[in-house]
Amino acid sequence: MKKRAIESRVEQVYQIRPEHLNGAGRLFGGRLMEWIDEVAGLVGIRHSQCNVITASVDNLKFIRGVFQNDLVVLVGTLTWVGSTSMEVRVDTYVEKLNGTRYPVNRAYLTLVTVDETGKPTKVPGLLIESIGQQAEWEAGQKRKEFRIQRNKEGF
Ligand SMILES: CC(C)(COP(=O)(O)OP(=O)(O)OC[C@H]1O[C@@H](n2cnc3c(N)ncnc32)[C@H](O)[C@@H]1OP(=O)(O)O)[C@@H](O)C(=O)NCCC(=O)NCCS
Repeated sequence: MKKRAIESRVEQVYQIRPEHLNGAGRLFGGRLMEWIDEVAGLVGIRHSQCNVITASVDNLKFIRGVFQNDLVVLVGTLTWVGSTSMEVRVDTYVEKLNGTRYPVNRAYLTLVTVDETGKPTKVPGLLIESIGQQAEWEAGQKRKEFRIQRNKEGF
């Protein structure tokens, strides 16, 4: 049975506190990576209703710095599913007090659903409901092919 992307969408908000900062007074990149991985995992669990593991992370590009007291919003959306793997896009923004969001990062993560023994298991299909979702699906298919190629070539 196919499921809708909206059913597994996750939005998480953090306010940046001193313990989140690096020596340069900005949000520590490793902390953001943890939050991105966590949000993607929650999307994968909601969609598959199984345990998931992260197989790969693509395109971690830090576009702008994040500072103390900033509100950071992470939005995770399912973009593509294969047989046992799923691709999740996680967009990170800084949200100003007036509600305007500025992009900080976009990452694509591949998660694999696993059973109790750690063996990859079948993942439900994804219902495509808009032109935007169709475009993401096609791009996800292409990214999957790039990943296979990269794995083959060892980089
Ligand atoms: C992810 C993992 C289960 C894949 O194992 P595998 O033996 O390659 O399994 P399979 O060949 O059956 O592949 C399973 C799926 O993962 C995908 N996959 C495997 N390696 C991948 C990679 N590096 N990037 C993206 N997808 C990957 C395959 O394409 C396949 O997808 P599909 O079923 O939708 O076509 C295995 O590499 C693993 O356990 N890695 C450790 C993951 C982990 O512990 N993460 C926690 C963070 S450290």
